[in-house]
Order: sequence, then structure tokens, then C-alpha cells
Amino acid sequence: MALKPLIAANWKMNGNRELVSTVTEAVASLSSAVDVLVCPPATLLPAFKVQRNFALGGQDVSAAQAGAYTGQLSVALLKEASASYCLVGHSERRQYQFESDSLIAQKVAAAIAGGITPVLCIGETLAERQQEKTEQVLAKQLAAVYASQPELLSKSVIAYEPIWAIGTGESATPEQAQLTHAFIRAELSRYDAEAATQLRILYGGSVNAANSAALFAQPDINGALVGGASLKPDEFVQICLSAK
Ligand code: G3P
Repeated sequence: MALKPLIAANWKMNGNRELVSTVTEAVASLSSAVDVLVCPPATLLPAFKVQRNFALGGQDVSAAQAGAYTGQLSVALLKEASASYCLVGHSERRQYQFESDSLIAQKVAAAIAGGITPVLCIGETLAERQQEKTEQVLAKQLAAVYASQPELLSKSVIAYEPIWAIGTGESATPEQAQLTHAFIRAELSRYDAEAATQLRILYGGSVNAANSAALFAQPDINGALVGGASLKPDEFVQICLSAK
């Protein structure tokens, strides 16, 4: 993990002002050796104090800049709420909001054009892994964003989240994850070889304090996107500490 690690918390539809305070306090002791990102529900973004040693992010962003898009949040609105990152294409949005690869590509472009860093989430289902289609699925998800917009790669973060590992307690093994991360980096080097070497590729899917160090010891795993364990401040700090 030669690149500076990024440990990102995805609270999903969880948390409250009390968690904002306890996480802010817990993370305050961390050094700057690790970049930390917290993506709470958007309504909680303003509850975070201006003075903090971690970045904030949205869990989604609109592809549109403004206008008649009920319920959506633009890049400008996220920035006004102090977000400097946003998740894009999380598997739960692909599944429940039927987000397509082409919409996700527009969202990545909108985020970068507006000055925030997208964390593009990709991953395969269990059936796809069992049918040995993992690489094919990931290549398609990446091509949809970067084949026609390779210039976006240098401003992106990728999160590989195998869907079968999300919220199941069954993380990919470090070796499985490393093989897939290496594939992702190689695939992206076709679009921009230099950017691919500098790109942070996060692993997500049942990351916890017991398995994080072994994952971070892999050369192509540059951090994590943490769901359930990010709601436990002490455990989240342990995960951050294991990334140094
Ligand atoms: O975005 C993070 C995520 O989907 C992984 O969730 O609960 O398995 O860590 P979890």
C-alpha cells in the first residue's frame, strides 16, 4: 500500500447527531498519515464542525447542476455542506435506484467538473463470481465511465465492493481482493497508465478491525470503504490505525 491510504466511512441510512459527535471525537486522535473520509446521510453533513481532521462526503450526487430534480443533491449543494467527496454508483443505488452505468458515468463527470472527488463503486454479485465473470463485470463498469472520459481517472477514487461481501460478515480474503485490485489497476492503465499507478483503490465489504490490517498489507489495496464497522467509533479508529 504505497499510496497514502484513504479510509472512508459509509454510514448509509444510519447515524444521528450523537454519532457525529462521538466519531468526530474518536477520529481527532488520528495522525495525518491516513486520509479519513466520512459519508453520513446528507442531512447530517452540517452537524460536523468546521474544524476536523477528516473530509466529508455525500453518498450520492446528481448528474444535473440544478433545477427540477426533486430529492436530488447537486455538487454545489454538497460543497456548500462541506463535502469534498461523494460516493457514486454504490451497489445499493445500482440495485434499489436502478442506476445505470451511463448515469453513473455522468455523475462521476459532474462531480469532477464541480470540484469534488468521486469514489466510484464497482463490484460483482455472488452469481457473477461463481460464473467466473468478475473481471468481465468490472471491466464493463469501468469502461462505462473511463473509456470515453479517460481524463477523469486522475481525479477519481475507486472502491471495489464485491456485493456478496457487503454486510454479510464474509469479507473477500486479502489474496482474492489483491488479485481483483491488481486487475482493476491493469484495466485502468489502458485508459491512463500514469493515473492508474497513482489511483487509490479501496476495498469494501465486511471490513472490520480484525481483518483490515491483512487487507491493507496488499500492494494494490489503498484503503477501505467501511459500512457497518464505521458506525462503531472505536472500531473505525482501529481500522484507520491499521492502515499506516
Ligand atoms: O460502502 C460500504 C459497504 O457497502 C460495505 O458495507 O457493512 O459490509 O462494511 P459493510
